[in-house]
Amino acid sequence: MKKSVYLIIKFLITGYNLIKEKILVTAALPYANGRIHLGHISGAYLPADIYVRYKRLNGENILFICGSDEHGVPITITADNEGVKPQQIIDRFHNQNKIAFHKLGISFDNYSRTSLSVHHETGKEFFLEFYNRGILKEKKSIQFYDEKAKMFLPDRYVEGICPNCGFEEARSDECENCGALYQPHELINPKSKITGEMPVLKETSHWFFPLGQYQKRLEDYINEMNNKYGWKENVLQYCRGWFKDGLEDRAITRDLDWGIKVPIDSAQGKVLYVWFEAVLGYISSTKELSEKLGNKNLWKDYWQNENTKYVAFIGKDNVVFHCIIFPSILMAWNDGQNDKYVLPQNVPANEFLNFEGKKFSKSRHWGIDVWDFLNTFPPDPLRYTLAANLPESRDTDFYWKEFQTRNNSELADILGNFINRTLTFVFKNFDGKVPDKRVVDKIDSDMLLLLSEYPEKVSKLFESYKIRDGVLEIMNLARAGNKYFNDSEPWKTVNSNKDKCSSTLYVCLQIIYTLAELFEPVIPFSSKEIFNILNSSKTDWDKCGKENLPVGHVLNQPKIIFPKIENEIIELQMEKLNASDSKNNINKDDLISIDDFSKIKLSVAEVISAEKLEKSEKLLKLKVKLDNEERQVISGIAKFYSPEDLIGRKVVMVSNLKPAKLMGHESNGMILAAEDVDNNLIVLSVPNNVKNGTTIK
Ligand code: MF3
Ligand code: ZN
Repeated sequence: MKKSVYLIIKFLITGYNLIKEKILVTAALPYANGRIHLGHISGAYLPADIYVRYKRLNGENILFICGSDEHGVPITITADNEGVKPQQIIDRFHNQNKIAFHKLGISFDNYSRTSLSVHHETGKEFFLEFYNRGILKEKKSIQFYDEKAKMFLPDRYVEGICPNCGFEEARSDECENCGALYQPHELINPKSKITGEMPVLKETSHWFFPLGQYQKRLEDYINEMNNKYGWKENVLQYCRGWFKDGLEDRAITRDLDWGIKVPIDSAQGKVLYVWFEAVLGYISSTKELSEKLGNKNLWKDYWQNENTKYVAFIGKDNVVFHCIIFPSILMAWNDGQNDKYVLPQNVPANEFLNFEGKKFSKSRHWGIDVWDFLNTFPPDPLRYTLAANLPESRDTDFYWKEFQTRNNSELADILGNFINRTLTFVFKNFDGKVPDKRVVDKIDSDMLLLLSEYPEKVSKLFESYKIRDGVLEIMNLARAGNKYFNDSEPWKTVNSNKDKCSSTLYVCLQIIYTLAELFEPVIPFSSKEIFNILNSSKTDWDKCGKENLPVGHVLNQPKIIFPKIENEIIELQMEKLNASDSKNNINKDDLISIDDFSKIKLSVAEVISAEKLEKSEKLLKLKVKLDNEERQVISGIAKFYSPEDLIGRKVVMVSNLKPAKLMGHESNGMILAAEDVDNNLIVLSVPNNVKNGTTIK
């Protein structure tokens, strides 16, 4: 190729890349003080991931950015409660959450941490920019001080009685129970959460960001974005509420030693308020990615490019930070002399997911985290269940029973069954190859037309953040496929009219291809398996509703993609939940008598053999010895113990439990175990000098 031609082409490609819209998607940075649970996933990460995967199939230039929020009082309180350093807490949960996201197929381009120096530098850079330009105001205020711990106590470190409603766990300036706001000195009987002492009130000074000065611009910005891009009604409602109350100056520093040090000499012992810096974590995560990819300017190409479409996925508790605080920080920056940042074009915040009718609660052990969930179930049934039930306009619930039904009656019976019956039929009658389209009757052309409309139909919903409706719509295509199969009766035409039969199966295979692609954003692992069976791979989103599998194309043998979930497995989960529920809410009416207790026979038993149960990741089959009796027990500890570890151990067993069947195996008793702080099950052990069969009293 002539050099000039080469240069022109190169110029066109580069030019195109510069002009083509870039998409930046962020999802709220979860605090690294606990494991993420299903509520977090429904709130932000799953809708974001579906959106991103869908955009990638459209060939978009997109970055998906997240990371751990590792500063702030939530981290230090967790560390204090466990008696360890904050560093230990953030290391543990950053790693666990990163793994959990990965296993769930949340496809971040980068998952960073706000404790990295690139983030500390970014936080300081913003503070100094504002400080030097005289935007920040220094103000004195009165705050609680713990004289024993020698520190000022941030809001959540003080607990007392609400002056308004009498709630006993009210914070220093706000009551969770009645919503009242008050001054710290009004709190009754304040107590330091660190030492338990009564704190004193002492003067301290902080730097305030003049949020009120930005109110008008923020209102204009949100109106403009809403007019152009259609913001969600729930999000607009929250914002209007804040505007109505009027925005006030906000302290962006705290008296704390965990966090980003305030970079001026007069601010010894102070750090940046976590919400001021955490939102900047999106930027520093992108900087970290640039570094990893050896492309220094990548982050600027996205963040400082007016052709970037920036979408921030969050849960409703984060609206004020993303629709008001973060944009005002960026506006203030953009008023200066430096390169300008893009503001969110949309903030499609979700409401909350509850768990079996109640709020998720770590302290009350109500709910299930992703880590535990994925130890028992594969990711896609969870993704599908959550996606079909996203709290997009109101709170929704996760129910174990619904999870089972979504898997068994939708993924398995509708989608799985359609794939399976089609492929089995093709292998039996058409040699495992895509059969010819010979006669196209109305039923066939109608089906092909419907099929061709699907990509756009789903696009429209995904583009307007109606992810849930999009997902349900895709399942409707599988329903339509089954109906088409039934109505066409290929099991009859295979004998009476082979040409017709051949066309039916040709169309069914094209539907399966489309389903594999449309479902990729929702259930990516299964989509891959479907493409494998089709011996094919994805195309552009807008082409996937066409006839993509050519006649004669060789297919692979079908296999079951969505195994059913047995009742026993779900019941086990419900029992676990009930157990933790009753444990944590002991109610006077629920107290038992000594007679009740003596009905339970607890015995010492020795494990004499142990083996894994086939087809189960959770269950072990144990033989245990009581005094002169042997029993078989099925125990859900396979994740935590290898069979060899258990043999010879003396354990505690409920020995008068009615026999039960678990996955077809009889179980005569129950081994007692307790969860450690990392949610590993630890089997209770008895010293070796206690005889087998001894009753525990
Ligand atoms: N860590 C916060 C939470 O879990 C969310 C922070 S989002 C960010 O609620 F934008 F500030 F990073
Ligand atoms: Zn109150």
